[in-house]
Amino acid sequence: IRVEFLDYEVIADRGWDLADDDLFAKAADADLAPADHGRLLVEPDESLLEAAENRGFSWPFSCRGGACANCAVYLVEGELSQPANHILSEEHAERGFRLSCNGYPLSDELKVVFNVKHLPELDELRL
Ligand code: FES
Repeated sequence: IRVEFLDYEVIADRGWDLADDDLFAKAADADLAPADHGRLLVEPDESLLEAAENRGFSWPFSCRGGACANCAVYLVEGELSQPANHILSEEHAERGFRLSCNGYPLSDELKVVFNVKHLPELDELRL
């Protein structure tokens, strides 16, 4: 399962928007650091957060149990399961927010923005 990822901080710093259609094209053109934008493979038994960690990336997390939203990601493409979620509302989920600590890819390819905990609407949820 191949995942292309982008750090929300880059979006905020550059004044881009999560809703931009060409977000990942802009990221590809921007010559970003490998930790900010790149690709990783997720094994079937790994959550998205575990996969990122096992490939040497440091993505934010805290509880690892679906209760804090520190690990939240935004799905641009693909689907991520959500077995335990005690923090994100249904509306968040509908808009594409998921928790990476216990989210497992349900599609062969995903595009995600990680580090979205800094979005004001998620920031206020965080414990
Ligand atoms: Fe707390 Fe994922 S680390 S919800």
